[in-house]
Amino acid sequence: MPSLISQPNTELKGTVRVPGDKSISHRSLMLSGLAVGESEITGLLEGEDVLATAAAMRAMGARVERVAPGHWKVQGVGVGGLMEPDDIIDMGNSGTSTRLIMGLIASHPIRVTMTGDASLRGRPMGRVTVPLASVGAEFSAREDKFLPLTMKGTDNPLPIDCTTPMASAQVKSAVILAGLNTPGITRVREKVATRDHTERMLSAMGADISVTEEDGHRVVSLVGQPELNPIRLEVPGDISSAAFLLVAASIVPGSDVLIENVGLNPLRTGIVAALKAMGADITVLNERLLGGEPVGDLRVRAAALKGVDHLPVDPSTMIDEFPVLFCAAAVARGTSRFTGLEELRVKESDRLAVMAAGLRANGIKLEELEDGLVIEGCGGKVPGGGMVETHLDHRIAMSFSVLGQMAATPVVIDDASPIQTSFPVFIDLMQSLGAGLSL
Ligand code: S3P
Repeated sequence: MPSLISQPNTELKGTVRVPGDKSISHRSLMLSGLAVGESEITGLLEGEDVLATAAAMRAMGARVERVAPGHWKVQGVGVGGLMEPDDIIDMGNSGTSTRLIMGLIASHPIRVTMTGDASLRGRPMGRVTVPLASVGAEFSAREDKFLPLTMKGTDNPLPIDCTTPMASAQVKSAVILAGLNTPGITRVREKVATRDHTERMLSAMGADISVTEEDGHRVVSLVGQPELNPIRLEVPGDISSAAFLLVAASIVPGSDVLIENVGLNPLRTGIVAALKAMGADITVLNERLLGGEPVGDLRVRAAALKGVDHLPVDPSTMIDEFPVLFCAAAVARGTSRFTGLEELRVKESDRLAVMAAGLRANGIKLEELEDGLVIEGCGGKVPGGGMVETHLDHRIAMSFSVLGQMAATPVVIDDASPIQTSFPVFIDLMQSLGAGLSL
C-alpha cells in the first residue's frame, strides 16, 4: 500500500490531456466484442477497470488485442455468440464491468461466475439481478445480492419493459445489453436521464434504438438481435478525470490549465456547471463531435470559490465528481449544502462517510446527512495534517491529492494504488503541472 503525500508546491500551469473516458472505454470493448468484424479503438483508457472488461470479453470468446498504447483491435463474436468462460472472471474493482457484462450474459445460454476485490464484493448487485431475472437469467449470489455470484443466462430471453428504481446508467445499460440478444423490443424507462453512451454507441453501430419521452420518463427502446457493425472509435478524454484538474486549478492561486479533448456529453458535464456556480473560471473551447460524442477543451484559471446551497444540475450528471467537489467546498468561502446523494453510499466506497472522515481528519467542519454533506468552507487553505483512508476508492485518493494542494500541513493518503483503476498517469500529470505530490 504506497501512501501518497500531498502539499502545496507552485501554481498549476500547462496544457494536458487526460486518459480516455472510462464509461465509453468499457462500452467500446463490450459492444465491439459483439459486432461482426474487426473494430479499432484509439485513446482507450488502460486503467485496471477497463482491463478487467477486456479480460472478461476475451474469456467469453472475443479477440481483444492491444496493438499500441491506447490502440486496440477487437474481433467480435456477433450478437448471440458469447461463449462460456472456462474459469471464474475477476472484475477487480469495477462495478461497470460487472453490471454491464451481467446484462450481456443474461441473454446468452452460458454460466459465469464473477468475483472482485473487497470493495466490489460489498456493492449491491440486486439492482441488476432483479431486472435480468425477469429476462430469464438465474442467479446465485452471496447473501442473494453480493459477489461472488454465479449466473446462468437463458436461451429463451424475454424482452422486458422496466423502470430503473434509481438513477443508474449501469442498471439501464445492463437491461439494454440484455436486450441485444433478445427477440422483440426491450424498453427501459428512467425518471432522471443518466449518461447515454450505450445508446449513442449502439446507434452508431447500426442498432435500431430510439429514445422518447413518456409520462415524464426517458424511454429507451431497443429492437433485439441486430447485427452490429464494427466501429472505429476515438475515445474522448474522461471528464470525471478532468474534474480533479478543474478543482485543483480553481483552488490553487495563480493557476491556469488547459485540458484538451475532454468528453462533454451533456449528461456528464454537471461538474462544470457546479464549479461555475461556486465562482470557478472555466471556459469551453473548440467544441466538436468525436465518434458521436461532443468534446471540447477546458481552460480553467484560479478563482475565489464561494459555497453553494443548491446545485444548478441533477446529481446524475456529475455523480462521480462529488468527492472532489466536496474538496472545492472545503476551500471555498461560506457553507455548502449537498443533498439527494444517497447513491454515493454504494460507490467504490461509502463516499459520504469516507469523505466526511477524510475532511474531518484534515480540520474541516461538516455535518454528514443521510443523503449528503454540509461543509463549512475555510475560505482559503484548509488546516490539513490528516491521514485519509481511501477504502480501495480511486476517487477518494485523487480528491484528497487535490485538497492537499491547498493545505497548511501536508495531507497523507494511506493508499495510492486504487488510482490505477481509472487514471494511471494521475500523479505524473499533476506533478507536470506543478503539484506537490510524492509517493
Ligand atoms: C457508470 C455509471 C455510474 C458511475 C460509474 C460509471 C457507467 O454508476 O458512477 O462510475 O459507466 O455506466 P451508476 O450507474 O451506479 O450511477
